[in-house]
Amino acid sequence: MGSPVCVVPIEIHPVRANMGVGGESHIDPELLGNAAVFPLRLSYGAIINYSYLVIDQLGQDRDAVLIDPAWEPERVHQAVHNARAHPVAVLVTHAHPDHTDLADEMAKYYDVPVFMEADEIDYRGFFCANLEGLEDGDRIDFGQSSFVGILTPGHTLGRFCFLGSREIFTGDTVFMEGCGICTPGGTPESLYASLRRLREIVSGGTRVFPGHRYSKPLGGSFASLLAENMYFNIADCDEFVAVRMRPGQTGLWAFT
Ligand SMILES: [Fe+2]
Repeated sequence: MGSPVCVVPIEIHPVRANMGVGGESHIDPELLGNAAVFPLRLSYGAIINYSYLVIDQLGQDRDAVLIDPAWEPERVHQAVHNARAHPVAVLVTHAHPDHTDLADEMAKYYDVPVFMEADEIDYRGFFCANLEGLEDGDRIDFGQSSFVGILTPGHTLGRFCFLGSREIFTGDTVFMEGCGICTPGGTPESLYASLRRLREIVSGGTRVFPGHRYSKPLGGSFASLLAENMYFNIADCDEFVAVRMRPGQTGLWAFT
């Protein structure tokens, strides 16, 4: 295996009583270090995914994690090489193939663990080399930076957002323009609860990096998401379910 990567369970308490925009997360950003984000736009036919190379900026070793690596392995390796990064783990938001396609290959090549939420592994029967299950609130330490796994079901059964000091990686739970569809294991009710949970946990200045991009730039603030993403502005669960599950949506691309 590569450099040690440590998993530490922490407690997650919502503390923003008014769920206002721009508040501070109860998870002290100072404790999560400082990481640089390199988005990787990777494609397979018409499918375009954003994977991320994230490098610790505080340690000496440029320890890094790969988030949702899929498709085009040579481009991932080139990005690692160009950034002089030292991958120590693969983090996967959920088990869908467009987020996991390279998990096994990267695990073997860099000899690093792959972290995914434990129930997601079981429900989907996912397997790859060096796979390790995480629980809600597990903090993954790499270099002198960390990410916290935040359980946000709805798109799938047991899917994670990964929250760092200044950024959150949302996979298919939340996009800048909307939110994910509900696939087997996920429900619109749990997706509603997950978005409410994110409102309580994530500070307004946190930059958002989803797994897909449709029109808006990656890395916009969570505050802008709260202001502009309609799914964050539906306060009633039944209404949310009705909108998310409305008829006439166009399959995988029904993100708004
Ligand atoms: Fe997905």
